[in-house]
Amino acid sequence: MLQLRRASKNDLEFLIKLDLEEEGYTPSVDDTPVDVEEHCARISGYVHDADKAARVFGDTEDHEQVGGVLCRFRNLKTEPESANNWTFFESIRQFLPDSGRFCEVFNLWVAPDFRRQGLATRLKRQLEIESHRRDIEMIYTHTERTNPHVIELNLKLGYREIRRGPIWDEIGWVSLTKGFI
Ligand SMILES: CC(C)(COP(=O)(O)OP(=O)(O)OC[C@H]1O[C@@H](n2cnc3c(N)ncnc32)[C@H](O)[C@@H]1OP(=O)(O)O)[C@@H](O)C(=O)NCCC(=O)NCCS
Repeated sequence: MLQLRRASKNDLEFLIKLDLEEEGYTPSVDDTPVDVEEHCARISGYVHDADKAARVFGDTEDHEQVGGVLCRFRNLKTEPESANNWTFFESIRQFLPDSGRFCEVFNLWVAPDFRRQGLATRLKRQLEIESHRRDIEMIYTHTERTNPHVIELNLKLGYREIRRGPIWDEIGWVSLTKGFI
């Protein structure tokens, strides 16, 4: 039976693999070798840090994970300007709440055999519940414009498109937000 749950340290290997494989993203041209320790520590933050969260779908019998998603609860007013993509978010400030607080969702993935059964929808809804619990008013996500099915998934969830264009590279990204308070 599949169970949707908060990720634990037992899910780290799965979350790291998911991050490294980057399915659904154009492969990076940056060929700097991955610093494995630094990478593990970064992903581990999504399991342990108060400003981050990770959810997974796991099989209760064989304990295999079949889906996952990561997010970060951000506050542009208190984060240092060196924070990940801070400048980009500042440039789309008019679409974000005055409080500067929002949830950034990424690394959504569902195993091929389990797709089109609503798992991704449920993973994302779970992050909405968590955001709501934290009084966060908006969820932000982006995907490449070559992923129309991911755009459709988000539109079905009530997101709206706010921007198209490059962010930190030349890729055409589609940015979407959902406000719910
Ligand atoms: C994108 C992904 C997470 C979707 O997971 P999923 O569990 O199959 O999604 P859901 O079942 O919740 O889909 C909800 C809706 O999104 C749309 N959708 C999802 N996948 C689709 C596809 N392959 N083709 C067309 N529409 C699709 C449909 O409208 C679907 O509703 P429907 O099945 O009733 O028609 C999954 O395909 C995946 O892991 N892909 C590789 C990684 C990736 O691209 N991640 C996103 C990076 S930004």
